[in-house]
Amino acid sequence: MDLEIRNQRQLALSVAFFTIGIGCVDSSTPSEGNVQDAGTVAPVSFTSTATPVYNGLRGKDFNSGWRFNLGDVTGAQATAFDDSTWRSLNVPHDWSIELPFDQISPAGSGGGYLDGGVGWYRKTFTLDQANSGQRILIQFDGVYMNSEVWINGTSLGNRPYGYSSFEYDLTPYVNIGGAGNVIAVRVDNNQPTSRWYSGSGIYRNVWLTVVNPIHVTNSGVFVNSPTVSNTSASVSVGTEVQNQSASSASVTVTTTILDPSGAAVATDTSPASDIAADATTTVSQNLTVASPQLWSTTSPNLYQAKVEINVAGATVDTYLAPLGFRTASFSSTGGFSLNGQTMKLRGVCMHHDLGALGAAINYRAIERRVEILKAMGVNAIRTSHNPPAPEFLDICDRQGILVMDEAFDCWETQKVSNDYHLYFTQWAQTDLQAFVRRDRNHPSVIMWSIGNEIPNPTTATATNLKNWVLAADATRPVTWASVNTSDDNNQAVAAVLDLQGYNYSEWRYDQDHAAHPDWKLFGSETSSAVRSRGIYHTPVSENILTSADDQCSSYDNSVVSWGSSAESSYANDVSRGFIGGQFIWTGFDYIGEPTPYPWPAKSSYFGIVDTAGFPKDIYYFYQSHWTTTPMIHILPHWNWTSGTTVTVLVYTNCDSAELFLNGVSLGSKTLTSGALHLEWDVPWASGTLQAEGTVGGAVVVSDEVTTADVAVQVVLSVDRSTINADGKDLAFVTAEIQDANGILVPTAANAVTFSVSGPGAVVGVDNGDAIDTSSYTGATRNAFSGKALAIVRSTGSAGPIVVSASSSGLTAGSATISAQ
Ligand code: GAL
Repeated sequence: MDLEIRNQRQLALSVAFFTIGIGCVDSSTPSEGNVQDAGTVAPVSFTSTATPVYNGLRGKDFNSGWRFNLGDVTGAQATAFDDSTWRSLNVPHDWSIELPFDQISPAGSGGGYLDGGVGWYRKTFTLDQANSGQRILIQFDGVYMNSEVWINGTSLGNRPYGYSSFEYDLTPYVNIGGAGNVIAVRVDNNQPTSRWYSGSGIYRNVWLTVVNPIHVTNSGVFVNSPTVSNTSASVSVGTEVQNQSASSASVTVTTTILDPSGAAVATDTSPASDIAADATTTVSQNLTVASPQLWSTTSPNLYQAKVEINVAGATVDTYLAPLGFRTASFSSTGGFSLNGQTMKLRGVCMHHDLGALGAAINYRAIERRVEILKAMGVNAIRTSHNPPAPEFLDICDRQGILVMDEAFDCWETQKVSNDYHLYFTQWAQTDLQAFVRRDRNHPSVIMWSIGNEIPNPTTATATNLKNWVLAADATRPVTWASVNTSDDNNQAVAAVLDLQGYNYSEWRYDQDHAAHPDWKLFGSETSSAVRSRGIYHTPVSENILTSADDQCSSYDNSVVSWGSSAESSYANDVSRGFIGGQFIWTGFDYIGEPTPYPWPAKSSYFGIVDTAGFPKDIYYFYQSHWTTTPMIHILPHWNWTSGTTVTVLVYTNCDSAELFLNGVSLGSKTLTSGALHLEWDVPWASGTLQAEGTVGGAVVVSDEVTTADVAVQVVLSVDRSTINADGKDLAFVTAEIQDANGILVPTAANAVTFSVSGPGAVVGVDNGDAIDTSSYTGATRNAFSGKALAIVRSTGSAGPIVVSASSSGLTAGSATISAQ
């Protein structure tokens, strides 16, 4: 075991005044926009959202009209400070992604060689008279990191952890009517702060919420369903009502359960008398829903709880919470089950960056990632190693993805010098409970993880963390992800926890299962195989981790010393019924941690899908085992030289496959016991290699690779032909370098320049190449293995967006997207 290596590694606008009306809509800006099997389920498609997805859906978009300055500025918190020379922008914003990759950046390789530093944001706004007497609250979904926020020169507080969502009450400090108000935010990402790319700035949404003095507290509704069956579900609702009026108040709380169509299916009204001024009381309600439509990975039926606070017959606050009826349980012998049906967690770990968009969250970008993973057969995602954007959980609720929701990558002991260990003692309880309160209503969340590979863990800290979780949600198991499962401290902590998540410790499954028959085990992190899309290193039988091209091999033959190939980690999981499943490292590539190569490698090779969202071959390996709709995939590409014998792999879920080279059969093969793919050695000859998949004797699916001729054209395709004209929705445009016959040139690296006419703009370019250090925010990108990507955002008005892609010596490509 390579614990030592692992442990070393671990050490190792002119000022704009925005008028906020009673509804505080910022009208000047566009709004934001069995063994169960997922393989046959079409992903639910949603686009950008105009509403916040947590805290009751009460906030209004407060993202536009900010001023930004990179670098520290003395006195910038003062209301009168002149920010007229600062850059105008909308958040979410990540300044790091705009910077050049820098080999000597303090971010280091882990952080992807992109600097952090200090940045300032300011926003000036007015509140009209109708807001008088209301509470004015601001919510930041996440600011990386060490933010301090001022309103009109008064500090509201600081928040070190960059992944926490937090709220400040502006009420005592704001001017109502006429006079402007200034929010100032200082952000300090004093790297190194992370083992992966973090991004810097106000990189998640900001909301302004105006509520009556008598209202539901932040994340103050907890809805869960203690008993669930096909015939009936009980619903337990706890609502924290805060009275910030001058006198005591009596309220009624009316909770209505809305079914997926929006119809009311249960309601309860409960009184709460004499809530003293400045007091908060919790109102508990119990309801029953008959014949609930269960939430599952295949049918993610989403209900809502609508909670209304009434005073003297008037509704003063309305809070909406997501609700799904499902049971989720782990057993030490039978693994994981959802709604009583045993199923494997077919999971992937994911970091939060969105490739070329950096850390700046965008609903559609997250949704696209989840759609791509779901189509591979993924049913679970681990939010390694931090609380996700709230939108992520909304998407998982809607798409039927189970979530291992994770809080921390360290406790008291550092992994890098300026990481969360500096704040843990003071902030862990606050951050952890804010996280659990925010996320606890999502049916997608099935467990809380209090940490990943924690150095020097103690039972005292683990017990505190667990108890803090339980105080906010006692309905879900608490776990962590641990690699040192044999270490005494880790074993002691394990005894405190409900589930044992193992990182790269499949070799201990059997012995630990025997030694601790009551432990509920799953693979919280597995594989760490590395690969580059379209790159093949031979011999296939050898593990190849060094290469002159700084790339890794797509034959599943590049694996880090502490990891295992995709096939072997799959086999270790599937062969053991007592294991709940696994979370593979990683679903998508991410910026930073470019193991195994030094500069200029700047992004990971671990992904099953690259940073651009292009699947690597291994994607189809998983699809062949995790989905049932017939599929077949053949690799490698077919541009070799005469005399080469090429190892051909075929991934399929069909009964058998037959391979043909230029129409001549090379034989039919069936997966024999233990084999996870089909394989042929084929003397290369120019032409077409085709694989046909057979089910019950009939050919149902086929795939082929054809020798490409010289590149002559750029051909564009889009993920969606229609997007919202909301200034936020995205189209993902793929450029392929093709020969005259429309065959992808698999080795092409031509530079492609994207341009747009109409109501759209290129906001990022990528190709998935880990060693490409050109800017993600430009308009030109070299193709990598024949492909490049442009991300196009609508700019706010309707009309056709025409995307063009030119490349020297090639016929240009174009595609049209309709913004509506
Ligand atoms: C794990 C760690 C991950 C990532 C991975 C790479 O130990 O939890 O964050 O570093 O190794 O293999």
